[in-house]
Amino acid sequence: MSSSIRYRSHSAAETEALGAELAATLRAGDMVLVEGDLGAGKTTFVRGACRALGVTVPVTSPTFTIGQRYPAPVPVSHLDLYRLESMDDEDPDLLADYLGPETISFVEWPGVGEQRIAAFASVARRVRLEHAGGEQRVVELEA
Ligand SMILES: Nc1ncnc2c1ncn2[C@@H]1O[C@H](COP(=O)(O)OP(=O)(O)O)[C@@H](O)[C@H]1O
Ligand SMILES: [Mg+2]
Repeated sequence: MSSSIRYRSHSAAETEALGAELAATLRAGDMVLVEGDLGAGKTTFVRGACRALGVTVPVTSPTFTIGQRYPAPVPVSHLDLYRLESMDDEDPDLLADYLGPETISFVEWPGVGEQRIAAFASVARRVRLEHAGGEQRVVELEA
């Protein structure tokens, strides 16, 4: 059984700060699954985590590829599997480029690909973000 902690965020900056807090607990090889509807703040959360991990380049949702790799003391990968209906047709090497024991990785919309990505890295944490009216979000961190 896993426990979880729920926070209420009142701004994008607060959500980034929660990402930064989580980042402090991560080490190479850890993978964080980030779930939530469109606009819930997944990329915002990942941006805060990436900043705390030493990523200096802009952190935006990957658009034309399934992922991005950011240079940092421990390299960071950021995947968004939203458009992958099923990963069956995808080349497994596609994921190998982003996931592995040397990398800290964040995966938005892990849904369809969850079993496949689990082959490359262990799920260290799960984060769920939900709209809660206006700029408020509920951020649930699963241990
Ligand atoms: N409390 C909040 N937490 C996160 N984002 C917020 C919050 N309040 C407003 N926003 C805004 O909501 C949007 C969230 O976008 P994004 O992080 O890209 O979401 P997702 O990746 O889940 O689709 C951003 O424009 C952000 O500035
Ligand atoms: Mg996003």
